[in-house]
Amino acid sequence: MPRPDPAVSRALTRLTDLSLDRRTLLRGAGVAAALGVVAACSPRGSRPGPTRTASPSSLRFPDGFRWGAATSAFQVEGSTTADGRGPSIWDTFAAEPGRIDDGSTGDPAADHYRRWEEDLDLVASLGLGSYRFSVAWPRVVPTGSGAVNQAGLDFYRRLVDGLRRRGVRPAVTLYHWDLPQPLQDAGGWAARDTAERFGEYAAVVFDALAGEDVTWLTVNEPKTTAFVGYAGTEHAPGLGDVDAGLAAVHHQLLAHGRAVQALRAAGPVAATGGIGIALNLQPVYPGIGAEETARRADGAENRLYLDPVLLGRYPDDAVGDLPGQVHGDADRFAALVREGDLEAISAPADVLAVQYYGAAMVDRYGAWQSAFPTSAAGWQQVHPEGLYDLLTRLRDDYPDLPPLLITENGVPDDPADTDPVHDAARVAFLRAHLEQAGRAVADGVDLRGYYAWSLLDNFEWARGMSQRWGLVRVEPGTLDRTPKDSARWYQRVVAANGLVD
Ligand code: FCB
Repeated sequence: MPRPDPAVSRALTRLTDLSLDRRTLLRGAGVAAALGVVAACSPRGSRPGPTRTASPSSLRFPDGFRWGAATSAFQVEGSTTADGRGPSIWDTFAAEPGRIDDGSTGDPAADHYRRWEEDLDLVASLGLGSYRFSVAWPRVVPTGSGAVNQAGLDFYRRLVDGLRRRGVRPAVTLYHWDLPQPLQDAGGWAARDTAERFGEYAAVVFDALAGEDVTWLTVNEPKTTAFVGYAGTEHAPGLGDVDAGLAAVHHQLLAHGRAVQALRAAGPVAATGGIGIALNLQPVYPGIGAEETARRADGAENRLYLDPVLLGRYPDDAVGDLPGQVHGDADRFAALVREGDLEAISAPADVLAVQYYGAAMVDRYGAWQSAFPTSAAGWQQVHPEGLYDLLTRLRDDYPDLPPLLITENGVPDDPADTDPVHDAARVAFLRAHLEQAGRAVADGVDLRGYYAWSLLDNFEWARGMSQRWGLVRVEPGTLDRTPKDSARWYQRVVAANGLVD
């Protein structure tokens, strides 16, 4: 179980009554009152949906549905000083005593930098059509700006070629939290320049991997970086400064916009597989009498990211002093936005990548309620129906919504599964979420693919190697790979293009 961090809890309770630190504050069991809050969404759209017979156990997804699994560079690669890689904020953070539960660092993680061939064989053996990984910015541009490290680019070239040979489509995240340390020293995401440096780095990666049918994901979960790493202290760089957190929101979104611009400039070949941002979203349900608070909390959790990207404006109810809002300075936040920023952020993308782990509920004072069963990740309230609510809500609220991908969904090993390879709880979790995804597709949501988090047990940030999210077990010590029951089950789902057993 994760360790509570009272300092973070306190800091974040000051920031927002909702407490955006999903990784720390959503601990504890407890069951809230059953509240009639699940949106009733009417079916819409005429796109062919999955065929479904009476039993969800025979749910099928549309032809061409993309099945994948995801990892990120810092969490799996290891070899953090190999071949010219520079230090990232996570190297610095993990080296500080007390930051990571089990004292582990990014080395060896899952040793994927050296075992990548074996891992790609695993991907192929599961029958996956796509594999999502991230490029480590400090491997490619070790100091964050300026000189490019060819050896770093070559690693990702080999990975992409290796996937090609196995008939697997790459989905490449450009930024999954491993900011080059020199950029942090210059202010990190609180500084506008970082967005410009990101645009340059993105152009380098596009150029190196052009010609491949890569789906590009720009920034992974800007909310987590902003509120757990900048406003909070549980993730790198651990600042505990709400103004820095809000600046990190805008600058990461601007970075997304700059990457889209760079891809369009790189020409149609580089852009074949499309581009979009990866947002962690969650429905926020109102407790008794908490409709207004929940609306503002939805602003803070979801619309603060969705509206600028999809509508070209920030919501006016997400930041302020009221229950549910991010308790920061709304004027200071507004002052960060320069002319042209919102046009860049909202430039049409090809895909919206949704990462879904669970749902939230707030009371009228903005306090986060424990409303659904909590997983071994204390921040995760498991509510599969919330995925349906989220997907249909996106369809209803955003007229120009691009096609959707679910790029992360998963759960850590459940201590009740005494042998982690026999992970019945994970199978149940994945099944329940796929049922809801299928339901959403049947109701007209244009969902094109699903990636389980994660392919491998890996370095789970502040939890280190102690919390394991893989379909494939990575044995501590030997780092041997053993597919868990969930991997075998998922293999059958992929083969059947749906749920069959
Ligand atoms: C997501 C992160 C991913 C992993 C999962 C469990 O928020 O994007 O790296 O930590 O949570």
